[in-house]
This record gives sequence, structure tokens and C-alpha cells, in this order.
Amino acid sequence: MKLTSRSVSLPAMASAVLAAALGATLIVTGTASAATTLGAAAAQTGRYYGAAIAAGKLGDSTYTGIVNREFTMITAENEMKWDATEPNRGQFNYSNGDRVLNQALNNGKRVRGHALLWHQQQPGWAQGLSGSTLRSAAINHVTQVATHYKGKIYAWDVVNEAFADGSSGGRRDSNLQRTGNDWIEAAFRAARSADPNAKLCYNDYNTDGINAKSTGIYNMVRDFKSRGVPIDCVGLQSHLTNGPPGDYQANIKRFADLGVDVQITELDIAGSSQAGGYSTVTRACLAVPRCTGITVWGVRDSDSWRTGENPLLFDGSGNKKAAYNSVLDALNAGGTTVPGEPGTTTTTTTTTTTPPDPGTGDCTASVSLNAWNGGFVATVKVTAGSSALTGWKVTTSLPSGTAVTGSWSATGSGTTGTVVWTNVAYNGAVGAGQSTEFGFQGTGSGDGLSPICAAA
Ligand code: G3I
Repeated sequence: MKLTSRSVSLPAMASAVLAAALGATLIVTGTASAATTLGAAAAQTGRYYGAAIAAGKLGDSTYTGIVNREFTMITAENEMKWDATEPNRGQFNYSNGDRVLNQALNNGKRVRGHALLWHQQQPGWAQGLSGSTLRSAAINHVTQVATHYKGKIYAWDVVNEAFADGSSGGRRDSNLQRTGNDWIEAAFRAARSADPNAKLCYNDYNTDGINAKSTGIYNMVRDFKSRGVPIDCVGLQSHLTNGPPGDYQANIKRFADLGVDVQITELDIAGSSQAGGYSTVTRACLAVPRCTGITVWGVRDSDSWRTGENPLLFDGSGNKKAAYNSVLDALNAGGTTVPGEPGTTTTTTTTTTTPPDPGTGDCTASVSLNAWNGGFVATVKVTAGSSALTGWKVTTSLPSGTAVTGSWSATGSGTTGTVVWTNVAYNGAVGAGQSTEFGFQGTGSGDGLSPICAAA
């Protein structure tokens, strides 16, 4: 038996076709049925809404409930940093980073990796190195960590906070900087080699407005783009009080105009104008097509690194604050769409269910398809039957003219026609009646994928 349901938003499709024909920037305005979570509201314009989370809090059901319900992008607050992942030189520990990663991927969310190189939170052994020894240890760290997470990270903060505060517009002094000014580009090249599909970002704070520091970074990005150094995005941390500077949107736009994405990576806002500040930040990102998403730095006020400032969207009990409602309203009001990202113009949702395979270890697969004019993201849910799975394979049939361009949490046998998806190491085991998810994106319609699941 095959069960298919579909809903197509015709007005949105008509707008998209018209916009495409005119080569125009599409502006999506609010719809009659407003989304009720941050992630779903942001997806209406192709953006994500994320949060930084801590592995040590995943046992807190209030915390995890909010994370699973509201956010579509996850950052590990500390677990993927150098001190956490390479506590001893050449000995890597991914246990807590993997917990955060799996929490995200198993619940259909993407992951921002944070951060490969930073002058803070270095392990003691690295703090004691210098010169070419430190350089090679640092580049090895980038290569090893990016390789471990290859294919699972949407964007990496490759280098964090390398510019000085104040009026110099230059680099911050650090042991990494003292290895030579080219350490940043060396890190970006190593990250690209290790994980060609991850977006590579430079991330910093006090860079939210147009100032000496952000201009120094702007000049670096322009130089990187002109010399072919691989950089895809700039992260504006946005640790703010009351709201962003008046030239926040102009600053986002000038980076975007260099040909990189801009992401708001660590948003939190203290002060009495918090709700208005959150609204202003949201609307600024929505106004720039290459501002692809916003991440808040923590979940509840009690989770924040800014102790006592209550800068987040949920109070200590997990209740939504006024700031939450201002973000949700701003997201539902719409904005520009993100080029080439899902969820923007034409949204087609197709759910296909296949019958359980007979025998032990049987499973079913269903697809949720998010499609727009010329592309799609397919999220496939694999559910074990009455017996636990130790591995699985899902076969999909891609229509002619459709090609896979990327995937996560499964390995595909090809990119066109009949593709067999095999579980990766961490999601092959699925308990009886339990589910896991993988996904892929592609060009073309992605229509009629008809997934068939089999135990492996
Ligand atoms: O886990 C240990 C715990 O075992 C120990 O008892 C306790 C005693 O101090 O420390 C705990 O570790 C702390 C860790 O957070 C986890 O809570 C560290 O001391 C503390 O330094 C660390 O702070 C983190 C900070 O980066 C380090 O610079 C914050 O959680 C984290 O939110 C913050 O994040 C940074 C971004 O990475 C970069 N941008 C700025 C942002 C805010 O500072």
C-alpha cells in the first residue's frame, strides 16, 4: 500500500515563478496561518533559527523539549572547541561533541560547528607551543576535527575572534597570530580539504556595526575572495545590550555584497529594550537575502554565559518571554528569501509511506519534501518495526532531471536515478518502534521519491 498526501501553496508558487521570471528578489510576506515555532517561522523565508546547547543539559527534559521544538540549527556551546576535542596532542575526544551532533541530526536539525581555532579554550599543551610547531599542530587539529565531522556540519566557525578590539582594525595578538599572518587562510584551506561541503565561516564579536574591527574583517574577506582563499560566510556574534547598532543591517549587507553568507551566530540581548532589540535583529537579517539564519547563544536565561543578565528568549522555567514573541512575530511577517535555500518560495510537502518489510528487523521510511523552484530538501524518517535494527538501507527513485547535491546522516550510492542510502556509523542501530532521520538535497523537483526501507 502506498499513501501519498500533498499540499501546494499556489499563491507562493505563483509569486516565485513571477519573481524568477523578473530576476527579482522575492519578498515573502506573512500568511494567514502563522508558524508557531521559531524554526518553522524562519523556514518560511528559507532561513534557520538555531541555539547553542550544552551536552551536559540534554538530560533536562524542559531544556531538550524546547530545543527539539523550536530550533532548526544547533551549535555546541563548548564541546567542539580545541580543549574539548584534543585534550592531549594527537588524542582526540569527540564524545560530547558527538552527543550534541547526534541530538541535532537525530531530530532533523542541522549543525554549526564551533570553533576550529580560537585563542581561547586551547588545551594546555597547545598554549605551550609556538612557531612552526604550533602552526602544524593547529592545522592538524583543523584537519582531524573537520574530517571527523565531514558531511555532518552545515557551517564551521573555522577561525573565531582573531581581530583586535578598538581602532586598529588589525589582528589580535595571540600564539596563533605569532605563527604568521597567513594562519587564518591556512586554516580555511585545511578545512575545505577536509570537508568540502561545509560552509566555512569567520566568526567574531563587536563586529555588529560598521567599525574599525568589522572593517578589518571586511578587508580580509575581500582579500580572501580575490585570492581564492575558501571562505563562505561571516558570523556576527551579536552579544548585545538593548539592541544592535543603527548600521547593523548595512553591515550585514556590505559583507553579503562581498559574496559570502552572513549568519548571526551567538545572539543574546540584555537590557530593558530586549524585546525590541530582538525584533530589530530579526528584521535586519530578514532584509538581506544572504543573511541565512540566526542562532541564540543558549536556551533559557539560566543557561546563559551572561549570568544575571537574562538575555535569552526563555525564562529560567522554560516559559516564552516577550522577546520570544517579538522574534516569532518578526519571522512570521516575512522578508527576503535566501537564494538556493529550502523553504522559500514553493513549498510542497509530500509524505510517502512504504509498508514494513517482512521478517525480523523490518522498517518503514517516509519522506518529508521541502521543495522550491528548481531544488529540494528531502528529510527521510526511518522507523524500525517490531524488531530493532542494526543497520538499514533506503532505496529512493529520483525522477529524471533530478540530482542529489548533498546529504547528511546516510551514504548514497549515487546522485541520480535509483539511489540506495545506507546508514552511517552512528545511526544504524534503531530500537524497535524507534526512528532516525537522514536527508539529502538536490536540484530538480524531488517529486515521487517512493522510499523503500530494508534492514541491513
Ligand atoms: O565544565 C567545567 C566545570 O566542570 C567546572 O566545574 C567549571 C568551573 O569553572 O567550569 C566548567 O567549564 C566552563 C564552561 O564554560 C562550561 O560551563 C568554563 O570554566 C568556562 O570558561 C566556559 O565558558 C564558556 C566560554 O565561551 C569560554 O570562553 C561559555 O560556556 C561559552 O558560552 C562561551 O562562548 C563564547 C563563544 O565560544 C565565542 N564567543 C563568545 C562566547 C561567550 O563568551
